[in-house]
Amino acid sequence: MKKIIIDTDPGIDDAMAILLAHASNEIDLVGITTTFGNTSIENSTRNALYLKDKFALQATVAQGVDVPLVLPASPPATAIHGNNGLGNINIPSEQTSQVINQLAHDYIINTVKAHPHEITLIAIGRLTNLALALSKAPEIASLVKEVIIMGGAFGFNGHSGNLTPFAEANVYGDPHAADIVVSANWPVTMVGLDVTQQSIMSTAYINDLKSKSSKYGAFIYDISEFYAKFYHADLGLDGFYVHDASAIIYAIAPELFTTRKGNIRVVTEGVAEGQTLFKESDRVFPIDEWSDRPKQKICTNVECDKLLNLYYNTM
Ligand code: BDR
Ligand code: CA
Repeated sequence: MKKIIIDTDPGIDDAMAILLAHASNEIDLVGITTTFGNTSIENSTRNALYLKDKFALQATVAQGVDVPLVLPASPPATAIHGNNGLGNINIPSEQTSQVINQLAHDYIINTVKAHPHEITLIAIGRLTNLALALSKAPEIASLVKEVIIMGGAFGFNGHSGNLTPFAEANVYGDPHAADIVVSANWPVTMVGLDVTQQSIMSTAYINDLKSKSSKYGAFIYDISEFYAKFYHADLGLDGFYVHDASAIIYAIAPELFTTRKGNIRVVTEGVAEGQTLFKESDRVFPIDEWSDRPKQKICTNVECDKLLNLYYNTM
């Protein structure tokens, strides 16, 4: 079983990803660290604790910071995830579970050091907590097993951005943090829009899940109704893209994905702020601020049917 910490802003698709990790026999969900993004940091944390109570998760929950490293925070995505982050379902005001008394990035540092070479970090929100962990304890880079990021868009399969024409939301939300995380000397795989927008959970799929998964189906149906309405109104989709759960599925079944290796950079200012750039060739250019960076992996294709089946069968 892979020991995993999920860094997340739950968030409807985040909640679906967390539940997949919880349900999977391949994953030991050790911790959940929260970040701002889809909703406020307070809502993210409350929602993580709510999931922990409702589905008896064993994971420790640690709250993260509430602002990006450099830029001001962009407004929460209430049109996509609702005012409470979970599609405006009723959430009890008090949760039984509580956060631990460590900030998210300290929890990440301490847990990685306690389990050297065993922890996979899966980031499905802004990358602020991971960047803070690296800045405070750069030595964790060599102690983390793997870093899987739902974020970025490299233009494969026509997918370039969702928040701006050229930027994906998790990267745009803290581009400086994203640039630090992809430049560190640890093994990163980016599961970006290039693949997450290939897989769609249709209305029929969610209805079927509701009738077959006694444990999770009704909950997923309830939270995703709001999300599906947004996708229908915005893009005319029947259903919604599989963003965050794709990163969990990469951890479980990487063979479903086609990857390429190269240097990654994130644009941190200007009209292309938040764009992720990929240099695959080994050529060193006359002006080259790339070659000192480690080669990381990006996903360029996915076997959608198998991915959707894996989610369905696990739940
Ligand atoms: C990412 O942005 C958030 O809205 C989703 O939860 C996902 O992590 C997709 O761009
Ligand atoms: Ca997310």
